[in-house]
Amino acid sequence: MKVTVVGAGLVGATCADSIAHKDIVKEVVLLDVKQNVAEGKALDMWQMSPVDQFDTRIHGSTNDYTKTAGSDIVVITAGVPRKPGMSRDDLISINADIVKSSTENIIKHSPDAIIIIVSNPLDVMTYCAYLTAKVDSSRVFGMAGILDTARYGAFLAEALDCSPKDIQSILMGGHGDTMVPLPRYTTVSGIPVTELIEKAKLDAIVERTKKGGTEIVNLLGTSAWYAPGVAAAQMVEAIVKDQKRIFPCCAWLQGEYGLKDIYLGAPVKLGKKGIEQIIELKLNDEEMQLVNASAKAVREVMDVLDKMNAAK
Ligand code: LAC
Repeated sequence: MKVTVVGAGLVGATCADSIAHKDIVKEVVLLDVKQNVAEGKALDMWQMSPVDQFDTRIHGSTNDYTKTAGSDIVVITAGVPRKPGMSRDDLISINADIVKSSTENIIKHSPDAIIIIVSNPLDVMTYCAYLTAKVDSSRVFGMAGILDTARYGAFLAEALDCSPKDIQSILMGGHGDTMVPLPRYTTVSGIPVTELIEKAKLDAIVERTKKGGTEIVNLLGTSAWYAPGVAAAQMVEAIVKDQKRIFPCCAWLQGEYGLKDIYLGAPVKLGKKGIEQIIELKLNDEEMQLVNASAKAVREVMDVLDKMNAAK
């Protein structure tokens, strides 16, 4: 199998590195517009192989999409990251052009690829790729929920002084401050989290999770890359191995949760065909209200993209 990662910045390089270390595909192509950056990082990564013992070949390319031809899966991370004071939505006009041209080039050379979007604003960039690719939505989806649940799980593990491996959780909605962590669907080795932590502490963790990306932007002056990179690589693994894993992903909803024609985070089953099922949880009224509010926020930014496209 062949995987391309578009964008050799911090997120893209971390993702390619993680995929290579999993040793599950024959080739990873890392592509970037900046001269020699992808080639240099790919060469450095390949030189880890004798030490870390993997066979995956890693090749770099400066914007030459012929090198990506025949990819089975493509992860698009290209775009500018946010700086302190910016919301993910502030990136829309710059990143929409980048995601559109990346998707066009990918589809031209890999018409059957499954496309995973990581660029921000995530939900709307996934919509942008879907409009551009003109393929079934089971093959175009976004990475956000694994990252957001990872943050939620990491905070919980710290608060409970337990292993992060034992935290199981799901989260819905857009990849922004309106995301909806779901305590009712959160367990620690099957034990409902609400039995292990007091409400005020759990509420604080939910709030911290929603602003988890901003916390890192404020510390570093740019957005996170380790957890976003490995989260995208985990989606690649589920597809490559046809694992049928259930993850929250940014998916095209067609009536699920009463929402239509919108890209939004929801639990899905990931296998070799991409999204093989969108799972509908029986949300209570309060949860549904939060999901609807998040959908409204995402829809507003989708509308901005639609207006930008109409003006072209
Ligand atoms: C974050 C960015 C990658 O949440 O969206 O860190």
